[in-house]
Amino acid sequence: MIIAIDGPAASGKGTIAKRVAAHYGFKHLDSGLLYRGVGFAVLSAGKLNDPAAAVAAAQGYDPGRFAEDDLKSDAVAQAASIVAAIPQVREALIALQHDFARWKPGVVIDGRDIGTVIAPQAEVKIFVTATPEERARRRILELRGRGESVDDAGVLADIKARDARDSSRAVAPLRQAEDAVLLDTTHLDIPSAVRAAIDIVEAVRAGRRSA
Ligand code: DC
Repeated sequence: MIIAIDGPAASGKGTIAKRVAAHYGFKHLDSGLLYRGVGFAVLSAGKLNDPAAAVAAAQGYDPGRFAEDDLKSDAVAQAASIVAAIPQVREALIALQHDFARWKPGVVIDGRDIGTVIAPQAEVKIFVTATPEERARRRILELRGRGESVDDAGVLADIKARDARDSSRAVAPLRQAEDAVLLDTTHLDIPSAVRAAIDIVEAVRAGRRSA
């Protein structure tokens, strides 16, 4: 079984995906980490604006190469969003995601294009969203929690810039699949959002929803 969870930055999709996977005993893939890995590689090499370097990094992608902590900064997130707009980068990362999707009894994959492009056959598709202001608020708390100094207006501007880039690119843009169920987490805490996601999975499995 494949559960596809898509949505914009800081919508809560990663936390929801991880907990839904644990609930069902499924494996979880955060596909954003793949693009972050490529972003990190070109950023460290000083080649952010060199598409060929990004394509080479994606083609030689080694999932074990990056420490997750190195991939969590806002600079890497923006770099990921830039390299993710290059069609050959996306193409190079498809096989890895398809291989992962074959795990039994099931997987939860979160990202931007899982329900639309990577796994359109997913049995359950959830599109997680929240207002940009609420997503910025969460991101600011997270950064402060890590002891980083934060420019509040800058975080909101970065989130909006990433939304715009991810939604407007020509290949596999961020958008809700027609058969995805919308989950707005703006007014939900984490346990309530996870509960709502599990309720959606159960409802779809029971055939009570058309997704
Ligand atoms: O989910 P995230 O914030 O870790 O993703 C970082 C960037 O990677 C995001 O801004 C766009 C890109 N991305 C993508 O294009 N497709 C995906 N399936 C996942 C992430």
